[in-house]
Amino acid sequence: MTTESANLHDPAAFAVWAQAERERRRDDPHRPRYHFLPPANWMNDPNGVIQFGGGYHLFYQYNPFGPLWGAIHWGHAVSTDLVHWIDLPPALAPTPDSPDEAGCWSGCAVERDGALALLYTGVRGDGAREQLICLATSRDGRTFEKYAGNPVIPARPAGLDLVQYRDPTAWREGDGWYLTVGSGISRVGGTALLYRSDDLIHWEYLHPLCTGDLTQKEPIWTGTMWECPDFFPLDGKYVLAPSVWDGHPVYTAYMVGAYAGHRFTPEKMGILDPGRWYAPQSFEDDQGRRIIWGWLREGRGAAAQVAAGWSGVMALPRVLFLHPDGDLGQRPAPEVGLLRGEHQRLVDVAVTPDTRDLLPNLRGAQLELELDFDLGDAAACGLVVRRAPDGAEQTRIIYDRMARRLRVDR
Ligand code: FRU
Repeated sequence: MTTESANLHDPAAFAVWAQAERERRRDDPHRPRYHFLPPANWMNDPNGVIQFGGGYHLFYQYNPFGPLWGAIHWGHAVSTDLVHWIDLPPALAPTPDSPDEAGCWSGCAVERDGALALLYTGVRGDGAREQLICLATSRDGRTFEKYAGNPVIPARPAGLDLVQYRDPTAWREGDGWYLTVGSGISRVGGTALLYRSDDLIHWEYLHPLCTGDLTQKEPIWTGTMWECPDFFPLDGKYVLAPSVWDGHPVYTAYMVGAYAGHRFTPEKMGILDPGRWYAPQSFEDDQGRRIIWGWLREGRGAAAQVAAGWSGVMALPRVLFLHPDGDLGQRPAPEVGLLRGEHQRLVDVAVTPDTRDLLPNLRGAQLELELDFDLGDAAACGLVVRRAPDGAEQTRIIYDRMARRLRVDR
C-alpha cells in the first residue's frame, strides 16, 4: 500500500499509517528489525543527519508512493538513542512547477541561530535535467519551509566541464559557511566543488576542494563522479568520503589528509566498506563523536522488492576514529547494544569442519554475534546462519585467512 497523499502532511494520520505498515510486515522473514528502515516503500541515502532540539534526526531519500526509486521526498525519523525511532511525515516533498518539481535529492542539515537549515538538491525537468542547490528551514524540527528564492545556487560554476552536479554538504568554519557539492570533471575525475557563504543563501564558488584522477587505479580507483561527498575533521586530520559513481554506484571511498587554504590533500585512502554500503553521511554529536550513517543497497531484484512493499535499509550507526597509523577506523555505535536481548555465551569449544548445531538453543532471525576465533592452522573459519533444516538455503559468514577477508555469502 502506498502512502495516501493526505497522510504525508498530517502527523497524526501519518503516525497511524506508519504503525499499521510496520505491524503488517512483522512476519516478513527478510525484513530487518535491528536496522532503521521506513514503515514501507523505497529508501536510499541518509540525509541531513544531525542532533537538534534534544534528539537525533535522520532524514532519508524516500519514495512514499512505492518500493522502487522515484518521486524523491525527504523521509524523516527522530530518536533519542540512535536505535529506537519515531516516524515523522516527510520533511520535504517536490513542489510542482518549482526548482524541486522532479525530486528533493540528497543534501545535509546544519543548525543556524537555533533553527534547522536543510541544503538539498532540487531536481527539475524531465529526466532530472537540472539539479541545483536549494534551502529549507525549520524552527521546530518538524515542519519545513522552503526558501522562496530557491535555488540558492542557481547555476553550476562556469568554465568547468562537469559531468554531474548534486549533493551539498555544509559546515561552519571561522566566520562563514562552507559547502561542497559532488561532481565530476570530464576526462579528469570525481570532484568536490567548494563554496562559501555568510548566510546560507548567497553562495560564492571558490574552487574544487579536491579532485580525483580517473586514470589512477592505486590504492583505489576514485571514478568519474563523486556523489554525496562528506567532509569533516577527525582526530587532528580531515576526512573526505565521496561515493564513487560511474553511471552506477561503485563504493564509498575515504581519504584522510590535510586541509589548508581551503584545499584538501589526501594522504591515505581506501574503501570505507566493500559491501553494498553507499552514500553515507556523518555528523558530530554532543559527545564529540563522529557518527556515520550509510545506505545498504538492495541485493534483491525489483520484483522481490515490489512483492515485499519495501526496499533499502540503513546500516547501523558507526563511530569513526583514526588508528594510530593514521588510517580510518570505524566501530558500531555502543547504543546498538541497547537492542540486545537474552545473552548466551559459549567458551573454549573446538570447531571442526563437521561441527553442527553448536548452540542448539539459539534460534532467531535477529542475532548479534560476537565471535572470537583462534584459527590454529585452519585456512578459514566461520559459521552458518539462517540455515534451512535440509541445508538447501543458508548464509555463510566465513573468514578467509589467505585473503584476510570476511565474506558473507547469502
Ligand atoms: C546517491 C544519489 C545521490 C542523489 C540521490 C537521489 O545514491 O544518487 O547522488 O542525490 O541518490 O535519490
